[in-house]
Amino acid sequence: GLALASTMAHRPASTGNQLRSAVPLPEPYTVPLPIPPVLKPVSTSGGTDRYEITQRETTAEILPGIRTKLWTYNGVFPGPTIDSRRGRPATVTHRNELPVPTVVHLHGGRTPAASDGYPTDLVLPHDWPTPAAHDHQPPNQSHSHSHSQQHQHAGAHSMADPRAVTSRGTRDYTFPLDQRATMLWYHDHRMDFTAPAVWRGLAGLHIVRDDTEDALGLPRGERELPLMIADRAFAADGSLTYPSLDPSLRDRPGVKGPYAAGVLGDVVLVNGAPWPIHEVDAVRYRLRLLNASNARHYEFQAVTDDGRRLDLVQVGADQGLLAAPVTHTTLPVAPAERYDVVIDFAGLPTGSRVRLINRLGTGRTREVMAFRIARRARDESHIPKRLSDDLPTWRRSEATAVRDFAFRAGEKEHGRSWVIGGRTFDPARTDVRTRLGAVEVWRFVADVHHPVHLHLVGFRVLSRGGRAPLPHDAGLKDTISLRPGESAEIITRFDGYRGRYLFHCHNAEHEDMGMMANLEIT
Ligand code: C2O
Ligand code: CU
Repeated sequence: GLALASTMAHRPASTGNQLRSAVPLPEPYTVPLPIPPVLKPVSTSGGTDRYEITQRETTAEILPGIRTKLWTYNGVFPGPTIDSRRGRPATVTHRNELPVPTVVHLHGGRTPAASDGYPTDLVLPHDWPTPAAHDHQPPNQSHSHSHSQQHQHAGAHSMADPRAVTSRGTRDYTFPLDQRATMLWYHDHRMDFTAPAVWRGLAGLHIVRDDTEDALGLPRGERELPLMIADRAFAADGSLTYPSLDPSLRDRPGVKGPYAAGVLGDVVLVNGAPWPIHEVDAVRYRLRLLNASNARHYEFQAVTDDGRRLDLVQVGADQGLLAAPVTHTTLPVAPAERYDVVIDFAGLPTGSRVRLINRLGTGRTREVMAFRIARRARDESHIPKRLSDDLPTWRRSEATAVRDFAFRAGEKEHGRSWVIGGRTFDPARTDVRTRLGAVEVWRFVADVHHPVHLHLVGFRVLSRGGRAPLPHDAGLKDTISLRPGESAEIITRFDGYRGRYLFHCHNAEHEDMGMMANLEIT
């Protein structure tokens, strides 16, 4: 929150855009940690697993005694986890029973363009009026009206984008999953409406495994915990608060948009539960962390009751295993980043607690979740000194292009846009055209915090602020957290598939306010 507040000088620095819940909140560490259900394939034939997911509204008890309406995948938040083997394709049929068009993107997936969830490739509700029956607004007007009018003009962009492929009712997404083992996540990606859709619950995990990783001996089974961390705020009627829906937070003269810096909640959810607690054996655990928040940054620390900090031993990044473990005592995690860490509870007294806290939070947003040491147990896991030897080693000298991108607040539209290279997103414009197989160096610079994500490819961080990358930049990434005023260089190879892909800021509000661009691989 600290850095986000810098764009919001008119508000107290400690709160930024933080919303306040209007319902009683539980004491931290009283609610048990849920683990999202693992989805079973409806069939497996010809080496492909077929899954079905229905996107629908549901009401769930997220806060004790309070009913909250959600948009969900299969009625649960987080959505069901898909557990795949590397190289074994999955086809997921999404049925849209929500009142709005949707788009599904598998974040971090090496996915053919047709299934990558381009923001105008809408899945319309089956009874959605045909676009011709609508009075469309040009895309550049939608930013200023967007969230309050989403029922009226959604779908307008597919008209402005001749390449959009719209489906009605259902759509099959095919994921080859021919990629390194790692934890991916799927979430909504509709143009201009990603932030409110994800906020309302459209996010789930997709884990890719392989034999090499299985053989390492990392903690597994109940000792491997997927943790989707996301902040939210709750209105008096129990629904999730989102600024555009709250008239008191609408634009005022001289004030940037109500959610310009990004929306922050005052409740930290882990796997959909507020500040949960989880009973553990006094052994090593593998925590597969995802920051699924729209805009909140975390700096995690694991702290014992007597104030001791436990190491977070990172074994994997966004795109899978590191070459060798990296030990952190403080681990920064930006929106959309995944960190695969091992924590060792050995030697801690039975009954004691370890809290995972967010050093950037204040008050209750400083708390995340806790582990209670329930019993001693045997530990057969270990962390090998060498984790993987298949990380790409692209060199600057191989690069056929060096490109520069500035991620900044827009000048126009009264500060209510965010731009890459001076431009807001336009599906009809190609921002970068490259060839399949090209190695490129991309240089980024940011005004405030921007977590920058590339679709399709993983990249290595070459430098940060003109210096060597930081310890948490290790491995293969698909999202890099640019800090305020910072520059960074990444290197990647655009291989896999041809077609239209994206890169964008993964602060979901920045993304919806234009901070996204097209990448065409030919
Ligand atoms: Cu997680 Cu383009 O998104
Ligand atoms: Cu941003």
